[in-house]
Amino acid sequence: MISQAMCDKLNGQINLEFSAAYQYLSMACSFDSMGLKILSKLFQQQYAEEREHALKILGYVQEVGGAVKLEAVPKPRGDFKSVQDIVEAALKSELNVTQSIGELMEAAIAEKDHATQSFLKWFVDEQVEEVASMTDLLNLVKLAGDNVLQVESRIRHEMMSV
Ligand code: FEO
Repeated sequence: MISQAMCDKLNGQINLEFSAAYQYLSMACSFDSMGLKILSKLFQQQYAEEREHALKILGYVQEVGGAVKLEAVPKPRGDFKSVQDIVEAALKSELNVTQSIGELMEAAIAEKDHATQSFLKWFVDEQVEEVASMTDLLNLVKLAGDNVLQVESRIRHEMMSV
């Protein structure tokens, strides 16, 4: 039901989502070692979300009769110097995923692959949300400066209100 080229691209996206998940997990561990348990929990949630994204694409590939090919996940960064350093890297990763989803959508449009376009729509919307929330977090971190505990208490409040 999908072309081999599209199947290869979707397999690439599965790897990118697992890579983003693994990177978030490493970031969560870095926060934990800084004693920032709330940020660590938030990033563990992000890890779980990215893993779900990978599995969602994997399920789609199977559903349309494509072959899933899992590749090696790159070693994540763990050498972060500060909270801001981590959040900047997370935002960069989200922008990278957004660009990749955009390229997938463009390929699906070029191929007149309506099923994949419809499937990808959810990811386009999800990336808008993820880039926005990571941008908000970066702005909050910059505003708080050295007072990272203020960031933690704000996030705790937001986590409890959802
Ligand atoms: Fe699944 Fe936030 O990229």
